[in-house]
Amino acid sequence: MARLIGGIGSSHVPAIGNAIEQNMQSDPYWKSFFDGYVPAWKWLEERKPDVAILVYNDHGLNFFLDKMPTFAIGAAPQYLNSDEGWGLKPLPPFQGHPELSWHIIDSLVNDEFDITMCQEMQVDHGFTVPMNLMWPEQAKRDQIKVIPVCVNVVQAPFPTARRCLKLGEAIGRAVASYEEDLDVVILGTGGLSHQLDGERAGHTNREFDTEFLEKLSDEPEWLLQYSNLELAEIVGPQGVEMIMWLIMRGALNKQVTELSRNYHIPISNTAAGVILLENSA
Ligand code: DHB
Ligand code: FE
Repeated sequence: MARLIGGIGSSHVPAIGNAIEQNMQSDPYWKSFFDGYVPAWKWLEERKPDVAILVYNDHGLNFFLDKMPTFAIGAAPQYLNSDEGWGLKPLPPFQGHPELSWHIIDSLVNDEFDITMCQEMQVDHGFTVPMNLMWPEQAKRDQIKVIPVCVNVVQAPFPTARRCLKLGEAIGRAVASYEEDLDVVILGTGGLSHQLDGERAGHTNREFDTEFLEKLSDEPEWLLQYSNLELAEIVGPQGVEMIMWLIMRGALNKQVTELSRNYHIPISNTAAGVILLENSA
């Protein structure tokens, strides 16, 4: 049977992709940010998952405002990115796992999550930056199969945080019912607090982010007390991306072990966070 071995939450700022490309990991601006990923790199190297389910938001590359699914999932053999204007180089294709994708789609729809299924899907920095961060070497990225799960946190109304947590639980059930022997990791990406536009551009909220990270392992329901409108006020309209971390958390068991956490403010305009959660046996 397939097993979810753990989950990782990570921010997706495009500047991170450029820093990796230009080998700037040891520069004073970047060092403590990248140091926060060492435990995740070690854990991934040790556990060597076969598949990564990557929960992210598209920012206008694959879906635009004219057609915006609330939740979409890839069922393609490969996923390509392309130039979005951030200076990030197009990367070699990411390898999909169509069989597991279709199993998850089937399980989700029967579990009353009517998700948009995509046999073709371009992936933007919301996907490629976390992939680059987790597996900085191309050879490693070639080994891992990916399943993109795309969430609308771009055009209101967004799904509620509660719906995200429940979608995660349904993804957890879907993986657990897949017959092939596979180790699966789930990544919740985006956030933490940031606001990219308007008079308050540059807004972050360390206190709120810290409490969010503090509660994520044992009390993820803590975030559900806030509406998305309230969250936009508290963590910035782009900070609402953090609700995608609840999909990752929901997919894991009730009991998880937090193996590491880092918080770095700011990277570009964003309060960047990373957390590594291991599933209980
Ligand atoms: C930045 C953050 C984002 O979430 C994003 O999608 C693009 C840019 C930033 O802080 O620069
Ligand atoms: Fe973003």
